Amino acid sequence: MAPSEKDEPAAERALARTGSLLEIDLDAIIGNWRRLGQRLGPGASCAAVVKADAYGLGMARVAPALFAAGCRLFFVATPDEGLALRRLLGAAEIAVLNGLLPGTEGDFRRARLIPVLNDLGQVAAWRARAQTRALPAMLHIDTGMGRLGLAPNETARLVAEPSRLAGLTLRAVISHLACAEEAANALNAEQLARFRAPLAHLPAAPASLAASAGIFLGGDYHFDFVRPGAALYGVNPTPRAPNPMSQVVRLKGKILQTREIDEGMTVGYGAAHRMRRPGRVATVAVGYADGWLRSSSQRGSATLGGQRVPVIGRISMDLLTLDVTEVDPALARPGSFVDLIDESHDVDAVAAAAGTIGYEILTALGRRHHRVYRGGAG
Ligand SMILES: Cc1ncc(COP(=O)(O)O)c(C=O)c1O
Repeated sequence: MAPSEKDEPAAERALARTGSLLEIDLDAIIGNWRRLGQRLGPGASCAAVVKADAYGLGMARVAPALFAAGCRLFFVATPDEGLALRRLLGAAEIAVLNGLLPGTEGDFRRARLIPVLNDLGQVAAWRARAQTRALPAMLHIDTGMGRLGLAPNETARLVAEPSRLAGLTLRAVISHLACAEEAANALNAEQLARFRAPLAHLPAAPASLAASAGIFLGGDYHFDFVRPGAALYGVNPTPRAPNPMSQVVRLKGKILQTREIDEGMTVGYGAAHRMRRPGRVATVAVGYADGWLRSSSQRGSATLGGQRVPVIGRISMDLLTLDVTEVDPALARPGSFVDLIDESHDVDAVAAAAGTIGYEILTALGRRHHRVYRGGAG
């Protein structure tokens, strides 16, 4: 009797249908969070940045795992992300980096979100809501990023008139480093000094300057809490030194077809790759719609049977092509998986081949991968 569909477990059927498998190791994320926390002095704590769907890895799985491990303060970018996180974590503190957008005050109050106030207008708007009870707020001071946060003249006005904060519970004063990945960059010490100066005059509140890379600049940069994102997810926070973080993601792509291609024939759009000798090409079901950036055309690589095999031709929307001439044909066959991200070729290596940073590789990971989460129980 032929086996019926019911005999195949759902996980196997999903694997049969998908063109790619994305494994996300929640225990590695927790381990990275603890490792960063261990670098801090007594009294300093480690928050977690889970914006952009936890850097593409799935806030709905990542944030509860971190909460279960003891993390209590989370940062998102937008109010919508804050509302989604509140639905997941009733008891966590949730701060919204992009600030108090006009018309969102009611959402902030109802969902107990903490706005990171980025200018004096936002300070005034949030105060206006604090009529019956003090409302929590963080204050972002721009010390050299030139992006979000109170401009130097606004910080000076606040220092001169701290009554502008009356009615608010200052949960934290934060700033953000522009060049923390370059330990020798003079701007780090300048930002540190520009951060310390107003802190001495503002109402007492926990202070926070460092994100992932800033943690590795030393204890002066740690203050009361740090705000890592990328390092939690395995991106190297010290790009000029070996990665101190554990790898979190593994991505495998399925070979759909292999074929012999004659010398002189071309592969893919634009006929961008011409075979210099007869060879074998494997077509894999991962393309730029899955976050395998088109800029890694002709440059990226994968691992198959322990061998690195080069991407040839252009990455297209759903497919990439590999030169597998040197690989045992028994391995390079339809249905086999190639490793696109693994320990030997991590997110930073993939980013280098695409001319970008690990942050972009993670946040670009598409929705079509079959996702499997490991660990994180409890
Ligand atoms: C204000 C702020 N804090 C912390 C982070 C987390 O940075 P990283 O992912 O480098 O740790 C970011 C990320 O963009 C940020 O904008």
